[in-house]
Amino acid sequence: MIRIHDVFFSYSDFEDDPRWALQNVSLDIQENEFVAFLGPNGSGKSSLSRLLNGIELPQQGSIAVDELSTEDQASIPSIRRKVQMVFQNPENQQVGFTVGEDIAFGLSNFSWPRESMPSRIQWALQTAGLNVDVDRLVSQLSGGEKQKLALAAVLAIGPEYLILDEATSMLDPSARKQFVTSLAEARRLRPFSLIYVTHHMEEVMAADRWVLFSEGRVRAIGTPEELWRKPELLQSCGLELPYLNRLALMLEQDGVHTGDMDAANLDEWGRKLCKSS
Ligand SMILES: Nc1ncnc2c1ncn2[C@@H]1O[C@H](COP(=O)(O)OP(=O)(O)OP(=O)(O)O)[C@@H](O)[C@H]1O
Ligand SMILES: [Mg+2]
Repeated sequence: MIRIHDVFFSYSDFEDDPRWALQNVSLDIQENEFVAFLGPNGSGKSSLSRLLNGIELPQQGSIAVDELSTEDQASIPSIRRKVQMVFQNPENQQVGFTVGEDIAFGLSNFSWPRESMPSRIQWALQTAGLNVDVDRLVSQLSGGEKQKLALAAVLAIGPEYLILDEATSMLDPSARKQFVTSLAEARRLRPFSLIYVTHHMEEVMAADRWVLFSEGRVRAIGTPEELWRKPELLQSCGLELPYLNRLALMLEQDGVHTGDMDAANLDEWGRKLCKSS
């Protein structure tokens, strides 16, 4: 479990007048849980992500990953092994010349047995939906392909906690859907906690919990089902409901019961609407 306790964090050094990027944040992330961080630009989502594997340290409060404190320098290598991150800009984290080398680099860092690396690399590429040869030059990949490579590289390592910070920003809508499906499949084969930072609510309708941020504070925590019907709360966190959820709210206002419907399943909606008309 990741335990975030009463965290305050500032990038500024002015001790007397810190501008808090995060204030008063407390949250537990359970083993194998799928948690979405949602909120407007500058609300603290990336800052909290960076605290979770010790890239930054809180000025106040504490963060512990499976009882390992990020303040304890000796624990940082174990924490980084457990908590893997993919950032928005994949170029910041690609180190290999070729696709295969890039994934192998992470595996070597974590002492993966050399003989099973090729099959692991193939598995990771397939799971991430990146259909290229291992000898392909990283510099020749598109932005979206680089994002998929970044995902493949962390999936190969087998993290216990995976943080994806807007890791689908360069993907087209169908690749984005595929990415979410691939992640679900990877978690089904080998469960891990997923912390998914995004502005796209439709990507995280299947999350166990949403954490809504605004101005460096956690505004609400709850299941998608608990939170998506609260338009004012969502609006104050800079979020726009996906089309089907908006439709559901409008139908409910007209007396059509939509409570038991899967908001991501368009076919089901069609059938339901035909029956009720
Ligand atoms: N490297 C930095 N140096 C100084 N201030 C920063 C730095 N990175 C972020 N901030 C500030 O910290 C606050 C929180 O930013 P953060 O990047 O965590 O927001 P975010 O929710 O991830 O936003 P976005 O949706 O735009 O990615 C903002 O006020 C931002 O200006
Ligand atoms: Mg961010």
